[in-house]
Amino acid sequence: MKAIVCKQFGPPESLVFEDLALSPPGPHEVRIRVLAAGVNFPDVLIIQNKYQFRGTPPFAPGGEVCGEIIELGDQVTRWKLGDRVAALTMIGGFAEECVCHETVCVAVPEAMSAAVAAGFHLVYGTVIHALQDRGQLQPGETLLVLGASGGVGLAAVQLGRILGARVIAAASSDDKLALCQAQGADEGINYSQTGLKEAVKQLTGGKGADVIFDPVGGQFAQDAFSCIAWKGRHLVVGFAAGQIPEIALNRLLLKGCASLGVFWGDFIRREPEHQAANVRQLYAWFADGRLKPVISREYPLSEGAQALRDMADRKVTGKVVLVS
Ligand SMILES: NC(=O)c1ccc[n+]([C@@H]2O[C@H](COP(=O)([O-])OP(=O)(O)OC[C@H]3O[C@@H](n4cnc5c(N)ncnc54)[C@H](OP(=O)(O)O)[C@@H]3O)[C@@H](O)[C@H]2O)c1
Repeated sequence: MKAIVCKQFGPPESLVFEDLALSPPGPHEVRIRVLAAGVNFPDVLIIQNKYQFRGTPPFAPGGEVCGEIIELGDQVTRWKLGDRVAALTMIGGFAEECVCHETVCVAVPEAMSAAVAAGFHLVYGTVIHALQDRGQLQPGETLLVLGASGGVGLAAVQLGRILGARVIAAASSDDKLALCQAQGADEGINYSQTGLKEAVKQLTGGKGADVIFDPVGGQFAQDAFSCIAWKGRHLVVGFAAGQIPEIALNRLLLKGCASLGVFWGDFIRREPEHQAANVRQLYAWFADGRLKPVISREYPLSEGAQALRDMADRKVTGKVVLVS
């Protein structure tokens, strides 16, 4: 079968599109014909060996897919051939077929297209866990979202709005902010032109943001503590800017605030029932039309390397997926 293959760690340009052998499923594994694969920032890091999870070359990147089950391990009882599932694979998804453990699959609602399902579970799963479980976001509170037009960022804008918050989107261009506002952000800050601290203070009458969703890190994480409200919650989601910031603890003391880690990958392993409840909630919002995922671009599988290059270059918005 054809796959995007990482033969040695390196940038997206080092990936090749070629045949890759796939082992048959083990007793508790399933083989999936991939219909679509979600593209996520961790894929950009995994191919460079810069992520906490390490693949062993040669491997196909790709952490989440939607597809059809075409082979079952001999101990699998929860799935049958032909079931349409979304699966969190960590790697292996940028391929025509993949093999994964039966427990990382979830049934996909009929009304959800393969492209949407391939880009749904990781971003919305991360964001509902971040905003509700970790941030305890309350209706009427102000939510500041950094990197707001990206995958998890735009999901945070949408879910923040559904949860009743006033949402301030922060991103690096006016076009990106226009997308955020079309998806429910109340206000936008172009942080490549305006200081984050001053802009948030101005928009909140000096109070600051109650919850800050931060998938960017670097200098923006430092700035966040200058515009966080009393008893605010800073959600540490990722470091897309490349630098892991160091925060002086006096900044937490002075605002009576908290910095809270969000590690969705471990949350779903440690708390599967809680995760299942979160997915039920997300599916309910999808079914009643309140949650409308944005797929900004579909790339053919063969152009997977280009999709990762565009993501690394900050050229993508919302979700992008590969389609077979
Ligand atoms: N903690 C968890 O459980 C979890 C789960 C999923 C993802 N993540 C992390 O969340 C982060 C975002 O993931 P994503 O899939 O949403 O990525 P994405 O779609 O590429 O979004 C990242 C955003 O970060 C901003 N950014 C600022 N500096 C950047 C730089 N130097 N390079 C690239 N982007 C930069 C960009 O917005 P502007 O151009 O507007 O600044 C971009 O839209 C990643 O660090 C990822 O590892 C964490």
